Amino acid sequence: MRILVIGSGAREHALLLALSKDESVNELHVAPGGDGMSDLAVCHPEWQGAAIDVEDGAQITALAQALEADLVVVGPEIPLVAGVGDALREAGIAVFGPSKAAAMIEGSKAFAKDVMQAAGVATATATRIESADHIESVLDNYGPHYVIKDDGLAGGKGVVVTTHRAEAEAHARSVIAAGNPVLVESFLDGPEVSLFCFVDGETVVPLLPAQDHKRAFDHDEGPNTGGMGAYAPLPWLPEDATERIVREVCEPVAREMVARDCPYSGLLYAGLAWGADGPAVVEFNCRFGDPETQAVLALLKTPLAEVLAATAEGRLAQLPPLQWHEGAAVTVVLAAEGYPAVPRRGDVIHGLGAVDYRGESYVLHAGTKRNDSGEFEAAGGRVLNAVARGSDIEQARAKAYELIESLELAGGHYRSDIAAKAQQGEISI
Ligand code: GLY
Repeated sequence: MRILVIGSGAREHALLLALSKDESVNELHVAPGGDGMSDLAVCHPEWQGAAIDVEDGAQITALAQALEADLVVVGPEIPLVAGVGDALREAGIAVFGPSKAAAMIEGSKAFAKDVMQAAGVATATATRIESADHIESVLDNYGPHYVIKDDGLAGGKGVVVTTHRAEAEAHARSVIAAGNPVLVESFLDGPEVSLFCFVDGETVVPLLPAQDHKRAFDHDEGPNTGGMGAYAPLPWLPEDATERIVREVCEPVAREMVARDCPYSGLLYAGLAWGADGPAVVEFNCRFGDPETQAVLALLKTPLAEVLAATAEGRLAQLPPLQWHEGAAVTVVLAAEGYPAVPRRGDVIHGLGAVDYRGESYVLHAGTKRNDSGEFEAAGGRVLNAVARGSDIEQARAKAYELIESLELAGGHYRSDIAAKAQQGEISI
């Protein structure tokens, strides 16, 4: 199989790594990709002499046709919400990722709420605000925890959860000033769970549950980020949790999407709070989560390409159950100084050494590039991921932290408590 992956972060690096281990794959391409993944795939940063535009369906289709790709795997949400999947499908190319209409499950939180309401799925109550004039009166009906969301694509960073009304109000005003509506939601109590499911029409196949650590600093302090680390599976989750999430959340949503004539095909990411009564949806995303994917795929034994191709081609129901490695996986993100506000770029990374993807721990590139001297330097907020698999969380953590401690990036920072509570047998939020 010849596969083109769209994207450039550590999630795409993890996808390429998993695909590269699948014997049915004989050629891997990535657009735009990045220098750190050029050992696994041919990178296509340009198209016809200009920087490639991953939101441009015609360009991505032309590239896929030029490469004679058998399958295109779209990593990030922005091309999906822009309709890149539709352009590829219209050209007869198999694509892993939902249509523009189905990607609205992430692209519009109001659409997602409507689907959930129709499907009878538990979620927070919400009020949408389009004018700054209504912020104060809406906030009067919420609290003491305020959940304020940017009702647009914000890469996981548009949410503020606070007990300070002034902070809630300020965030709502800044979102509206930036031209997006705001969603004010009731607070869902309970630890967060990310469950990714392959979905093909009404067929839903769950991966292992994972947990992201969203705040920038240890002990869940500091601003929200795109994710500072993750682990899988979740030892504190009840044994029937995945089955319940599939039955109570993902299958009803998949059926509702079919009923609306916008069947879902691709990866449905359910972001949930596991409360006293079980799962309630915080949000849906229309793609693999970052950095949870890096941990989840480290545990997947089943060759990935066949699952993605089967989903894209409508034959997911015919596949045997997914196979998993025993144990646990942890990913820890090394971020640049200033992340998530204004990350500093250009600092050289030391300690990367030779790449060995065959071991149980390895580095994935999130935001790096090679400089003129051939060294890797920081080129984004999240710079590198240290990923490790072990017989349990303790071993996976030890390996991931040993690896990240061997890296040097001036001003770089990482959380020291990824999966720490889970290791101690506690529930982390
Ligand atoms: N893990 C957060 C996200 O992918 O949006």
